[in-house]
Amino acid sequence: MKCKYWSKQLFDLVPYTPGEQPKINDLIKLNTNENPYPPSPNVAQLLQQFNIGDLSRYPDPNSALLSQALATYHDVEIDNIFIGNGSDEVLAHAFMAFFRQDKPILMPDISYSFYTVYCDLYDIQATPIALKEDFEIQLADYATPNGGIIFANPNAPTGRAICLAEIEKLLQVNQDSLVIVDEAYVDFGAQSATALTQKYDNCLVVQTFSKSRALAGLRIGYAIGHPRLIEALERVKNSFNSYPLDMLAQASAVASIEDDEYFKRSLQTICATRAWTEQQLTSLGFKVIPSKTNFLFVAHASIPAIDIMTFLREKKIIVRHFSKPKIDNYLRISIGTEQQMQQLINQLQAFL
Ligand SMILES: Cc1ncc(COP(=O)(O)O)c(C=O)c1O
Repeated sequence: MKCKYWSKQLFDLVPYTPGEQPKINDLIKLNTNENPYPPSPNVAQLLQQFNIGDLSRYPDPNSALLSQALATYHDVEIDNIFIGNGSDEVLAHAFMAFFRQDKPILMPDISYSFYTVYCDLYDIQATPIALKEDFEIQLADYATPNGGIIFANPNAPTGRAICLAEIEKLLQVNQDSLVIVDEAYVDFGAQSATALTQKYDNCLVVQTFSKSRALAGLRIGYAIGHPRLIEALERVKNSFNSYPLDMLAQASAVASIEDDEYFKRSLQTICATRAWTEQQLTSLGFKVIPSKTNFLFVAHASIPAIDIMTFLREKKIIVRHFSKPKIDNYLRISIGTEQQMQQLINQLQAFL
């Protein structure tokens, strides 16, 4: 309930609603695009051997070892890297650092719903740009005066990806403002724009350890961009919380990067399960949007999404539905293990 002590701006603020995390036994949880597999065994080993006595000290405020590991992994310099507490925090700092401009920022009308929350929080004007009928982002439509541009590639919740050539074209025609490419799902098959950050100083890429690296619980996100962009993010960070990542998160992230073989193998497994699930859903009469992520965005030809979601929930399978225009007949289904997806298909077969 609102009260007189609140800052005025909070009264009309509509916060982001995260996907629920119910504590139900035997739940098949396909609603928040988490990784169904554990992180690299390197992480388990590290945590088991961690010296608990170290926890009495503050962590490295700059996450230097992790920054270096990420710089090496992405073939960039350490001053191209900014690290935050989940990519949500990195994005929040980026909105604060770059998007409080006179002109409105541009973003797809259907995308990650946190973007509009940051706009409201920081008093940023935004102009939504409609996706194409098939849910593809059409970057040619973004070549208008703006205070900045943000889109997710692949996009969420649609799962569709656009190619690098399109992004490069946008960077060239939009040199007066910053373009943020949110690559939360890029490892599942899309092309990353990280190389473009070395060529264009108006390109900032944001990635996360929450999806492909199975470390959502540790909250690790980062940005890659020109050192001047990174400096702006550092200024915001150091005016907010100098120690965004705890010691366990920093060390676990490095351990994850060091096990590239496990990383690639688990991505391959998830992509193979995605292909199988897509085929099964299509044969059950679903329209499936082509996905380069660890989820599928689907609508059934004759049964409303909400009815399917309700049925699945009774069977202890939870998927995500967005009550928003244009997408309210779609469900977003995260890719679980092969066994979980088989159970999903079995239940849908029984229902349909
Ligand atoms: C497109 C997109 N960006 C960013 C995030 C935030 O990820 P995190 O804060 O876990 O790094 C998500 C999470 O679902 C997402 O879907």
